[in-house]
Amino acid sequence: MRRYFFGKMCLKKIPIIIFLLVSYFIIPNHVYAAPETVITEGHSHNEIKRGERFFKGLLPFKRDYNACVSCHNLTPTDTLNWNPSAMDIAMKYADQDFGSFQSAVMEPSGIKMQASHVNFTLKEEDLKAVKSYLDNLSETGLSPAKPTYNNLILFLFLGLLLTWALVELIFLHHIKWKVVPIVIFMGAFGWQVRMIVTDAIKLGRQESYAPDQPIKFSHKVHAGENGIDCMYCHTTAEQSKSAGIPATNLCMNCHVLIREGSNSGKFEISKVVEANEKGQSIEWTRIHNLPDHVYFSHAIHVGSGKLDCTQCHGQVQEMDIMQQHSDLSMGWCVNCHRETKVDFGNNGYYEHFVELHGQIKSGAIDSVTAADVGANDCMRCHY
Ligand code: HEC
Ligand code: HEC
Ligand code: HEC
Ligand code: HEC
Ligand code: HEC
Ligand code: HEC
Repeated sequence: MRRYFFGKMCLKKIPIIIFLLVSYFIIPNHVYAAPETVITEGHSHNEIKRGERFFKGLLPFKRDYNACVSCHNLTPTDTLNWNPSAMDIAMKYADQDFGSFQSAVMEPSGIKMQASHVNFTLKEEDLKAVKSYLDNLSETGLSPAKPTYNNLILFLFLGLLLTWALVELIFLHHIKWKVVPIVIFMGAFGWQVRMIVTDAIKLGRQESYAPDQPIKFSHKVHAGENGIDCMYCHTTAEQSKSAGIPATNLCMNCHVLIREGSNSGKFEISKVVEANEKGQSIEWTRIHNLPDHVYFSHAIHVGSGKLDCTQCHGQVQEMDIMQQHSDLSMGWCVNCHRETKVDFGNNGYYEHFVELHGQIKSGAIDSVTAADVGANDCMRCHY
């Protein structure tokens, strides 16, 4: 049995087995899995497919307008595309009838859309197909959730391959060319390391983390181009632990009047208006997140310490998409406390540091850092 398994017969088959297994992981899943299409009220499978081709510009062959997908993108994260994404549109019109969809597309309102939806010579039946495609999209989502267990299987398989290559190299010596098991070993090992590294990065800290938000709110437009003060929206930064995220009705102070943005047109701002009318709050995804065992207060840093937001959050006024600037590690906090001087003389809060006051008077030291006044004591940051 053993002889047969490792014998010549089997050796010839190994490359084939490897090829089959590897191709299973490399060929995208949807080639194997039948496309999952929900047939929603009267939308046939064919109509949905035709709508998809239309949306992606594969049909009709001759047209003098851009494909829908060139502006309304289908990827989950649309980094700097200000136009509504395909999913955005799909969700908005999912419960609306064809008539309102048709007039939205064919009778564009607003400067931005009038400049974009030009020369639209779509036949009604084609637009109907597009609507069924979008309706279907609103139910199925963009791409089927990635089956994560595939990664685990791949990892185990690489492990097996790696072990086989080692055993072959050290004990079996069945293959004439040593380079074959060596290459297989290196390949499998390298791939495993790569998998571990990518996963570890995802697990740990999240510097530069910038999730998709429900509305394309831009700090560059507001704090940069329009010079709105950070504190206008993050009202509690000076007095309390958290800086606070503005409520929808604060947005309405301005957006009662401003209904169209130069970059996004009317679509994004209308989400704000609608949420406000319905009394709903906008569900922003939180970006900065210290672990629960750490105490951090904006009041100490912004109020008492007079630090500028940019020292910790970077050039926010240049960000269209908010992202985490610092890694929020313990080393980051502690280093800044060592380096940053506090306004020691004029702050009543520090009166009880008699010894430090004495040293300053006698000229033994000329300044006091945050660390000197205890900001680096474990208990200040950890309860
Ligand atoms: C017009 C209102 C407004 C102004 C002005 C404003 N922000 Fe914001 N800020 C928001 C909103 C809304 C969010 C949540 C959406 C997002 O993350 O983009 C936010 C998010 C943030 C976050 C991330 C919060 C998190 O989830 O961790 C930081 C940091 C921040 N703002 C800092 C600033 C700084 C610094 C300034 C001044 C340069 C500023 N903001 C000006 C409205 C505003
Ligand atoms: C000393 C560094 C530091 C400074 C200065 C600072 N922040 Fe923060 N900020 C943080 C940290 C750390 C967090 C994460 C807090 C947490 O997860 O509990 C945070 C979180 C936030 C958040 C999201 C959550 C919340 O607290 O509501 C907003 C908004 C924010 N900061 C805005 C500002 C603004 C506006 C300023 C300037 C007025 C500012 N920050 C100044 C370090 C700083
Ligand atoms: C102090 C006034 C003010 C407040 C408060 C305000 N905005 Fe704005 N907003 C503006 C101005 C000015 C513009 C730029 C309009 C333009 O492009 O001509 C704008 C543009 C926008 C745009 C479109 C951006 C573009 O360039 O297309 C969105 C989306 C938006 N705001 C969302 C919000 C949200 C969400 C809030 C509340 C968290 C908010 N705004 C609060 C003044 C404000
Ligand atoms: C050249 C770019 C461009 C192309 C091509 C384009 N759109 Fe748009 N579309 C836009 C922009 C920009 C907006 C949002 C403008 C606004 O809200 O003011 C928009 C908005 C929409 C809306 C939402 C209207 C609303 O306010 O509710 C729908 C629906 C829509 N597009 C469908 C389509 C369809 C279907 C196609 C293909 C036949 C298409 N678009 C092709 C740029 C484009
Ligand atoms: C950009 C520099 C900077 C960074 C980064 C920073 N701090 Fe501070 N921190 C200061 C300064 C300056 C003070 C003194 C403020 C004052 O004048 O009271 C301070 C004071 C404190 C205090 C108060 C100590 C006391 O007097 O009671 C705590 C707690 C604290 N920081 C926690 C943190 C934590 C937690 C982080 C990291 C998540 C952090 N800080 C990051 C500059 C910083
Ligand atoms: C200036 C604030 C600050 C001080 C002072 C501080 N820590 Fe921390 N500590 C943090 C922050 C922030 C984290 C979270 C780091 C992260 O998530 O990467 C942390 C995390 C930790 C952790 C958990 C590590 C982990 O991986 O989650 C331990 C243990 C710890 N600190 C111990 C201490 C001890 C012991 C001291 C005193 C010598 C101390 N800390 C002083 C801010 C502080």
